[in-house]
Amino acid sequence: MALRGAVYVNGTIKPADQAVVPVYDHGFLYGEGVYETLRTYNKVPFLYDRHQARLRASAERIHLDVPFTDAQLAGWIDETVAQAGEMDEAYIRILFTRGVGELNYDPRSTPNPTTVIIVKPFEPPAARVFETGVNICLVDILRNHPGSVNPLIKANNLLNNALAMQDANRRGGEEGLMCNYRGELSECAQANFFMVRDGVVLTPPSEAGLLEGITRAFVFEVGRDEGIEVRDEVLYPKDLETADEAFITSTTRELSPVVSIDGKPIGNGKVGATTRKLLDSYRRKAKELTASRMVNG
Ligand code: PDD
Repeated sequence: MALRGAVYVNGTIKPADQAVVPVYDHGFLYGEGVYETLRTYNKVPFLYDRHQARLRASAERIHLDVPFTDAQLAGWIDETVAQAGEMDEAYIRILFTRGVGELNYDPRSTPNPTTVIIVKPFEPPAARVFETGVNICLVDILRNHPGSVNPLIKANNLLNNALAMQDANRRGGEEGLMCNYRGELSECAQANFFMVRDGVVLTPPSEAGLLEGITRAFVFEVGRDEGIEVRDEVLYPKDLETADEAFITSTTRELSPVVSIDGKPIGNGKVGATTRKLLDSYRRKAKELTASRMVNG
């Protein structure tokens, strides 16, 4: 497999196919680590400040001290982008793990955390995703209980998400929508979920146990600017039958329209006008905010 791009590992940047992390890294052994996925618009990392803040919050929740400053991390990202070769827009993944140490859970065994930055060309979703929308599946896998591995942690331990996505893919869905342990809708395997009803945009609240997506938060702001009400509300699977439109959000998929769930059409089964308006505005703002690095954030 040809890997493109460059990877920073603890101070050294190498071509993607030469970058390695030792097998005794607790990120590999135990999934003990946190991460962020960013993309660039206008070749500038979008909402960098929010991503680095969430990385720190995730690290704190797993009691992992962050030994670098925001400016240092931003500098390493820039250096890695510079070495990743010619590309239009970049995909940037930051991973921060417990580091290398003996086979036990004692943090004293791993004094030096591992920092990895993967930079490769950003591959946008296929045009058909935005033109005609996608089918997603309501899967049987439950989203992690917040009292177990809290979904607020953007953790490298992604088994919950991988199992949900496998289930969805087996059933012909491009995402797996999960319920929480109370039977409420929470979020998808790799994205947050929204539905539109009577012109109001609804998404499960943080208390439903979900990752507080940076795109999700931005959609609230875009809605405010566009005069479209966006609010969080406890939602159940039966509410999906009342949806006029639906979409999912993530850094890499922006607002991707959902036109059916388990093959059942949402509304008239076409990409909705509210979704389209929010998507257009989202893209416009992303480009505006990255036009000058000074105002990015
Ligand atoms: N995933 N929920 C989950 C479980 C996610 O993994 C993601 C993002 C989101 C959306 O978050 P944001 O809007 O901040 O990207 C919600 C990224 C893209 C990933 O796993 O690479």
